[in-house]
Amino acid sequence: MKIAMVGSGYVGLVSGACFADFGHDVVCIDKDQSKIDRLHDGIMPIYEPGLDALVENNVRAGRLSFTTSLAEAIADASAIFIAVGTPSRRGDGHADLTFVHAVAREVGENLSGDAVIVTKSTVPVGTGDEVERIIGETGTSHRFSVVSNPEFLREGAAIGDFKRPDRIVIGAEDDFGRDIMREVYRPLFLNESPILFTSRRTSELIKYAANAFLATKITFINEMADLCEKVGANVQDVARGIGMDNRIGPKFLHAGPGYGGSCFPKDTLALLKTAEDYDSPTRIVEAVVKTNDSRKRAMGRKVLEALGGAEAARGRKVALLGLTFKPNTDDMRDSPSIAIAQTLSDAGVELAAFDPEGMELARPLMPEVTMCADPYEAITGADATVIVTEWDAFRALDLKRVRELANAPVLVDLRNIYHPEDVRAAGFAYTSVGRL
Ligand code: UDX
Repeated sequence: MKIAMVGSGYVGLVSGACFADFGHDVVCIDKDQSKIDRLHDGIMPIYEPGLDALVENNVRAGRLSFTTSLAEAIADASAIFIAVGTPSRRGDGHADLTFVHAVAREVGENLSGDAVIVTKSTVPVGTGDEVERIIGETGTSHRFSVVSNPEFLREGAAIGDFKRPDRIVIGAEDDFGRDIMREVYRPLFLNESPILFTSRRTSELIKYAANAFLATKITFINEMADLCEKVGANVQDVARGIGMDNRIGPKFLHAGPGYGGSCFPKDTLALLKTAEDYDSPTRIVEAVVKTNDSRKRAMGRKVLEALGGAEAARGRKVALLGLTFKPNTDDMRDSPSIAIAQTLSDAGVELAAFDPEGMELARPLMPEVTMCADPYEAITGADATVIVTEWDAFRALDLKRVRELANAPVLVDLRNIYHPEDVRAAGFAYTSVGRL
């Protein structure tokens, strides 16, 4: 089957490469000529483990290609995916659908055969109807069906998630749409990945509901962590204890500095906007958004406390280990590190940092931070070392060396990756999240 993937960003590129790997004939399209040129040279626009090899193999096998020409790429395609960005609109938090609408129009104007148009971008409820209206308005004579097929992949684990999904959700309004989508995902049905067919609007809402629920789960355990610190309990044991209940489940209960990334912050806000538009408030999600926002700065204050309070912290040096919103990505979007660095720098703290992949994108976001070549350089002369992101490289720091290089043996572990007894035995003052 021939598939066109419009938008070669994170979701488009991973999905396109994986569809090609299933044996489909895939063309990835992007307006950005330099991005397409680099892809032709085998250079990935994002850091994602395994992606470069997957792209290279499929390009070599002749199943994957890249172009800037949408009209050429969609000719003969049975499925045309829209995987362009839907950023938060400045000012009101609504998802910005400018790109989605523009692609819909261009697709309608260039259809050269019957096709299913699939929205893979995360789009608010009703966008499929709008895409259908826009394509209809172009007066195309070809049969088309608009389908919603949200993507649930996680950065850093995207290829595995795509190939072995917990479920595939397809929102279609007719058999043409359902049949083509069954064909697109046939290799996965054979792997017995469950597929859920729903209406288009339901499918669009599932994506937001899933992300809002996960954001709620994280925020819940983060609040429990705060309470644990006050009452002298251990949040990891609380998470284990509640997670063993099948109705709750053990995942997404790691307390930390608050969720970030390209999806949860943007999608929770967009859901609030939809709820407001339809006069059906989602107060739990409202509370989650507020609580998570304030948590990031609160983590900065936690570091100040470890330095002996705001007064004592002025003029001291802090090493930040990890800047990206989570490990195995270079993504800095809404990363807690940004608010933490800001809070510390507002308090007159001098900052040095190391991140295995994120420093290039972090630099313009935190110009006050000195970026270092490795963790130990950042730690040199530091009055406190803070683990902000749980990269594997920070899980087994040479604590003896840290003590020698640092100005003071103070470790603030915002991801709970160390055992308190071990670190204290190594002579450190140790603070973590939701544990004494
Ligand atoms: C998320 C969803 O998991 C995915 O299904 C959706 O398609 C896009 O958004 P991603 O943003 O890549 O994926 O990251 P994820 O691994 O889910 O983590 C999101 C944030 O939550 C990170 O900041 C992470 O550190 C935080 N998190 C996650 C926690 O603080 N605790 C947890 O238990 C899990």
